[in-house]
Amino acid sequence: MNENKELYEIAANAKENAYAPYSGFKVGAAVLTAEGIVYTGCNVENSSYPATICAERTAITKAISEGSRNIIKIAIASDGKEYTYPCGVCRQVISELMPDGEIIIGNGSDIKVYKASELLPHAFTLDR
Ligand code: THU
Repeated sequence: MNENKELYEIAANAKENAYAPYSGFKVGAAVLTAEGIVYTGCNVENSSYPATICAERTAITKAISEGSRNIIKIAIASDGKEYTYPCGVCRQVISELMPDGEIIIGNGSDIKVYKASELLPHAFTLDR
């Protein structure tokens, strides 16, 4: 199995920890750092809906909060039959924290790989 598919499978496992009683839509994510560390995440919903955090931001926040700054890949998995793309807020967070990274999405069997800049072109940044 190649590295991208492997990371996607790890994301699919992380999905099982999702707390999604409101939407019923479980999502898992797995980030890989340049040092070879993997951090996982899942969506964690809240009865106050905007307090929900997506799987991608859970995983990225775990990596950053543990001191990992070199995230090179993130894989995203759900039970949906279609490819699950990151939401707009997560695309902004991905652009901030892994701007040169790859995003691996899947539909349960096949995967696709995108650059962060492809999913959020002209991202807002204070670097300009
Ligand atoms: N969700 C994610 O975790 N990641 C995405 O990229 C899209 C949406 C979650 C948020 C919410 O718990 C559920 O999916 C339905 O929107």
